[in-house]
Amino acid sequence: MGLVSGIFLGVVVGVALVALLNQSFKLRSKQRIAKAADIKLLGDLVQDDLKKLCGANYPSWISFPEFERVKWLNKQLAKIWPYVAMAASGVIKEVVEPMLEQYRPPGIAALKFEKLFLGNVAPQCEGIRVQSQKKGQITMDLDFRWGGDASIILGIQTLVGASLPIQLKNVQFFATVRTIFQLAEDIPCISAVVVALLAKPKPEVKYLLKLIGGSLTAVPGLSDMIKDMVENILVDTLQWPHRIVVPIGGLPIDLSELELKLEGRLTVSVIGAKSLKNLEVFGKSDPYVVLYARILFKYKTKVVDNNLNPEWNETFELDIEDQETQTLVLQVMDQDITEDKFLGVVSFPLAKLTPEETKEFTLNLLPSLDTAHVVDKKDRGTITVKLNYHIFTKEEQAAAMAAEKEFLEQKKRAKEAGLIGSTLDAVGAVGGAGKALVGTGIGAVGTGLGMVGSGLGKAGKLVGRSVQLGGASMRGQSPGRENGMSR
Ligand SMILES: *[C@@H]1O[C@H](CO)[C@@H](O)[C@H](O)[C@H]1NC(C)=O
Repeated sequence: MGLVSGIFLGVVVGVALVALLNQSFKLRSKQRIAKAADIKLLGDLVQDDLKKLCGANYPSWISFPEFERVKWLNKQLAKIWPYVAMAASGVIKEVVEPMLEQYRPPGIAALKFEKLFLGNVAPQCEGIRVQSQKKGQITMDLDFRWGGDASIILGIQTLVGASLPIQLKNVQFFATVRTIFQLAEDIPCISAVVVALLAKPKPEVKYLLKLIGGSLTAVPGLSDMIKDMVENILVDTLQWPHRIVVPIGGLPIDLSELELKLEGRLTVSVIGAKSLKNLEVFGKSDPYVVLYARILFKYKTKVVDNNLNPEWNETFELDIEDQETQTLVLQVMDQDITEDKFLGVVSFPLAKLTPEETKEFTLNLLPSLDTAHVVDKKDRGTITVKLNYHIFTKEEQAAAMAAEKEFLEQKKRAKEAGLIGSTLDAVGAVGGAGKALVGTGIGAVGTGLGMVGSGLGKAGKLVGRSVQLGGASMRGQSPGRENGMSR
């Protein structure tokens, strides 16, 4: 729901700035407390404030011993927490609302904050590590723990019109936050702060959901829906390499160096699977594969009917932001009349690939990616894929980024028109008369994005692309791009 990640964001940006300010103030111990208290809102951080940080040159506090830094940060943070909390609320409202819309699950019509108070207890910093001092940049990793007395109430509008006030209780988190300060030659010396959560150790977020004046169990699935949404937003927007770039000081500067860019393209040929688990009572499973490296860009293969050793021979292209940290997820599903069932999943770290080299991998499918929660250790079979990672040239990168923007716009419009349930839906090839394609997915036909069946014409117009009618069967081995997944 973006709420928790929003809190992260607000708190983290605030805390990052505070960390910087305080380190700097330590050098000017006389006025430091008064100055820290001056930071009422992040938006108030204008040139004058920043001048005080830098003096004539770059901040020199980064060479302090860690213990000193942590102690200072926590002491100062406790003092100015009320201001940071206030600032964070503002940031949350501004930044999180659009995210809520993008990641909102199909079952919820609208989401907003009815009350947002971050409490009186400041987060504790447990460690600061200065990672690199690249020219013009300082990268710091901060470990934060927060278990405050926040009071947060969400207003959830369901599709049937009911409005449910949901309270988040006992919000707690622990996360390692990467902050990058972009330094400038001129005053203000800091032109931007980049904030991201590191995946290792995994951010821990805990909270209880409570329906005010009722029981959440009265709304089946809502609790899981919210938890999924939190997870999706966190991973997809804040987990490194994803980041939030906050320009500071109000000067027009070029932030493009700091922003996350597409770095290369992963070509995935989904060859086939072996020995899948049969979940059908009559006959065999009807497997298909959902694949992604980023949640907003999910693709799927066609469905192979009644087969536990399916062959797909389909190729997809996934754009990647960071080969070092991103993983390819392959999820094998069983198409079913009611709800598609989960057959197995595997994740493949892209760091294992040598760029520009095509290699085949046969991977063991697991019941869950969360190994801590695997109870059923039964064999789930294997999946075979052929992978190639290509690093973009400057030109390819620019083209890929423009195409991706357009693709997201199209998905957004398709969602607004009610053609897809969520921008998180997978897109893929059309195989058979799968219900998954009608209403819940963008079926890719020929060279355009389009819906199968009655929605087709509408979708064709909607996305402003030509849509081929007809048999809609996909050619094996044809690249994903040609199958309507162009971004
Ligand atoms: C997949 O490719 C293999 C090897 O090229 C071929 O033997 C097989 O028949 C193909 N299967 C399908 C379903 O296209």
